[in-house]
Amino acid sequence: MAGNWKMYKTPVETHAFFEAFKPLVGNSAICDVVICPPFLNLHAAVKEAHGTHIAIGAQNLYWGREGAVTGEVSGHMLQAVGCRYAIIAHSERRQYFGETEPDVVRKAQAALEYGLTPIVCVGERLEEREGNRTEEVLGEQFDGGIAPLTADQFAKIVIAYEPVWAIGTGKTATPELAAAAHRFIRGRVSDKFGEALASAVRILYGGSVKPDNVKKLMAEDEIDGALVGGASLDPASFAAIVKY
Ligand code: PGA
Repeated sequence: MAGNWKMYKTPVETHAFFEAFKPLVGNSAICDVVICPPFLNLHAAVKEAHGTHIAIGAQNLYWGREGAVTGEVSGHMLQAVGCRYAIIAHSERRQYFGETEPDVVRKAQAALEYGLTPIVCVGERLEEREGNRTEEVLGEQFDGGIAPLTADQFAKIVIAYEPVWAIGTGKTATPELAAAAHRFIRGRVSDKFGEALASAVRILYGGSVKPDNVKKLMAEDEIDGALVGGASLDPASFAAIVKY
């Protein structure tokens, strides 16, 4: 279960979140729990999570170790601060910052180089779903952004299926619809990397996951976890999702 805080919370608010969240989830490893705060709060979050099973992730990264790249943060820096995951190509990054499939490949490879688990996001926009183009779009995102990885690299990534029309809108995909998209992605994985990696890869669903709908989503065999935006900002609601 991964929480994506997007552009929310200051360091003080990060501290308050962990104070409340840690006792709620306890220290037993119910599932893998990841929290992805803004860059500025990563250091504080890693300290807060120390000694727990909560892992900290970044919401983006730049390829390359260091250099004259104003405003960017590298995998090397994320690793040094204690991050273990990095979200790659979230639809907001694709939409507002023009991230493309070649960026996905470069970023995933850079994350892996520094020991970070990439959470690679794919998903169709509303007009693409309404135009019956969901599989075409997912296929293109898979072919351009994920298929160029080697099998060894692929074995270490997590995929997040996030239909853009369900993000922050309160319109969750039905469990059946999400599962169908996951099945399609898993099929592409199988074609490219083989059956064993296809059944092993974790595919998270994202898009308006809340405490009251997580159970039904997770009841689908195809859905291995969730990437949670809004509902991860509140300690009680994210704890309820983690412990669904
Ligand atoms: P949401 O965001 O849960 O607020 O819809 C999900 C995401 O963008 O990862």
